[in-house]
Amino acid sequence: MPAFTASAPGKIILFGEHAVVYGQPAIAVPVTQVRATATIRPNLGGKWGEVRIQAPDIGLDTNLQRLDPAHPICEAVNQVTAALGADHIPACTLRVRATIPIASGLGSGAAISVAIIRALSGFLGHPLPNETVSALAYEVEKIHHGTPSGIDNTVVTYAQPVYFVKEQAIQTFEIAAPFTIVIGDTGIPSPTKESVGDVRQSWQRDPARYERFFAAAGQIAQTARKAIESGHVQQLGQLMRQNHAILQQVGVSCPELDQLVDAAQQAGAWGAKLSGGGRGGNMIALTDPEQAPAIAAALSAAGATNTIITNLQ
Ligand code: PMV
Repeated sequence: MPAFTASAPGKIILFGEHAVVYGQPAIAVPVTQVRATATIRPNLGGKWGEVRIQAPDIGLDTNLQRLDPAHPICEAVNQVTAALGADHIPACTLRVRATIPIASGLGSGAAISVAIIRALSGFLGHPLPNETVSALAYEVEKIHHGTPSGIDNTVVTYAQPVYFVKEQAIQTFEIAAPFTIVIGDTGIPSPTKESVGDVRQSWQRDPARYERFFAAAGQIAQTARKAIESGHVQQLGQLMRQNHAILQQVGVSCPELDQLVDAAQQAGAWGAKLSGGGRGGNMIALTDPEQAPAIAAALSAAGATNTIITNLQ
């Protein structure tokens, strides 16, 4: 049984986070500069079923049997063995590496799951199609998110821009004119499960108010898709500003995110917003490609711990 390696990119949500959990459309795109990779090597002479897990980025070096069954890595492995009806895995080492910052809205959890699911199913001789990979990763996402919409596992599996509506077939779309996004990391880890859970509580307290926010964000995502498909790139900037204002009212921004959003706009970005679960993690800014390095520098000066420039085309 030869070694098997698979990987998956990071992602950003351009429009519609949180509202997407409530059935509104959202737009997400892959970020190929950051990736998660899983490699499985056979341990010759090892006992059947003995799976060593190494994830040096989170300081993990253990055996599958010793890992909490609710751990996302364990869940990803179990999803594959259950889907393939494989009772035992030959002795092997599963090594997971990721350059995607954890708990920052760049889809690290989904990318790690997708990489593991692909690597393990390939190692076992039954590589799974994208639809199944995404569906299994969605099951693991429930550990990260509680009530995930499914957008992260979808965009990360297909590695294409997606217009996503919960429980509907994946829709991809054309980018008519390329555009540049600068990603700025607040450096504040923010588990999505918490912000999604808090939004749910707020929605339960005042459903009418929150549904208005979600509907407005959904409308923005629809308009943004048309702008992307027709090459009206600058219009996206205004839509980003509107979406960020809604997310502030929904209660998922924080002073650090607002500061980076303001800094990007002062440095000439056409628009900026938080991206993902919020309360920390990343924000994104839309810019002219020539202006991107200056915006990245302005973000660093305003406290961003990391910046990434990504061109979408
Ligand atoms: O994984 P994050 O932080 O990018 O958040 C995903 C987007 C949410 O809408 C907040 C949650 C979801 O499941 O769609």
